[in-house]
Amino acid sequence: MPMNLAKWIRHFGMTNRLDRPEPEWDLPLALDEKKRTALAATLAQYQLGDGGGPCRLIARDAERLRAADEEVRKVIDLWFAEEAEHSRLLAGAVRRLGGTFVEDSFAFRLFNRSRRTFGAQFEMKVLLIVEIVSTAYYRLIRKHCGDLPVRQMCRLILRDEAGHIAFHRERLSACHPEGVSWHWTTAFFLLGAACAGFLWMSHGRWLRPLGVSACDLFSLCRQGLAHFHRRLPSSSKRKSRQHLPGKKKESRSIIFREGRVPFPMPSIFTHILENELPASFVHRDEVVAAFLDIQPLTPGHTLVVPVREVASLSDLPPEILTHVTALGQEIGSAIRAADPSVTGINWLLCDGRDAGQEVPHIHLHVIPRRKGDGLRFAGKCATAGRADLDDWAARIATGLGR
Ligand SMILES: [Fe+2]
Ligand SMILES: [Fe+2]
Repeated sequence: MPMNLAKWIRHFGMTNRLDRPEPEWDLPLALDEKKRTALAATLAQYQLGDGGGPCRLIARDAERLRAADEEVRKVIDLWFAEEAEHSRLLAGAVRRLGGTFVEDSFAFRLFNRSRRTFGAQFEMKVLLIVEIVSTAYYRLIRKHCGDLPVRQMCRLILRDEAGHIAFHRERLSACHPEGVSWHWTTAFFLLGAACAGFLWMSHGRWLRPLGVSACDLFSLCRQGLAHFHRRLPSSSKRKSRQHLPGKKKESRSIIFREGRVPFPMPSIFTHILENELPASFVHRDEVVAAFLDIQPLTPGHTLVVPVREVASLSDLPPEILTHVTALGQEIGSAIRAADPSVTGINWLLCDGRDAGQEVPHIHLHVIPRRKGDGLRFAGKCATAGRADLDDWAARIATGLGR
């Protein structure tokens, strides 16, 4: 299927420019000296690579790619405009932390030399890998920096990078509808490992004082690369389908509240989490996100969604469930604080189609309640006898192994 460039022009040029509060750079700084200098140094160095250098394709044949189509040129320019914005944000963080800007480095020159030499297709692949590895970097900075404005900056950059990665995925899926080859895959993972190794070599000395280990970085990079690759069309998957005559291409659908709308896997929530569809977010981190339900049962109705796409509650690791419920609790309190007319909160978690689960990606509804809002559960309560209750208690206890 050809790429929908108009969608990406809209995304980079319009949708993603909305709701971008500037980090609160003037908040008091409460970092100890060791942490402050390490954070300033790593961000200053990173600023050079992330938008601080040439904000365009620089491969020797890049102009041929840009000139091929007006929409292609527009998308590429808008994408690089976001990279330039990252450089501006990073400069804000370096200034706040009292760091020194980096004008040039050996690593940066090497990076640009390889982009220039091996042609536009190679450059795009390198840039994709940098986006994935950068995502791991910003997630770790966000988690370990201990500074609210830097966290706010990471949130903005991560949101953009999610869009960039989704854009690359769609681009590659359009270029390789039959699946990427094994040598593409090998080069992808080798370059990914090299990029992560290079990042640790050049930033490890500053990341360590922040509490980031090499293992943290490598495991996040590995997850990012594997996650990206898993969702590309793959020639091996195609072959295995060909070997199974009669097996239809897998396609699932979800049910929206107003009728059935076909939507292929991954779930609509994964598309939202990867910025491929718009949503009004109230929170997102590497484990869980929360955004407003597009069909609210009451105003403020919020969904708490684990980043990992799991259809059933039974498959959700307990530690992730803990994040989901902790965030659900915080959101409930925030809703009450934001709207004094909210006098109660309902949690709703539908596990299974017959329980009303509409998206095969488990999620918690946080539903604000107001006096007289008219929302109620359908159905009448029965009166159970003690024997029935005892029977059910015994059956459940057996299931629990008690
Ligand atoms: Fe970037
Ligand atoms: Fe990017």
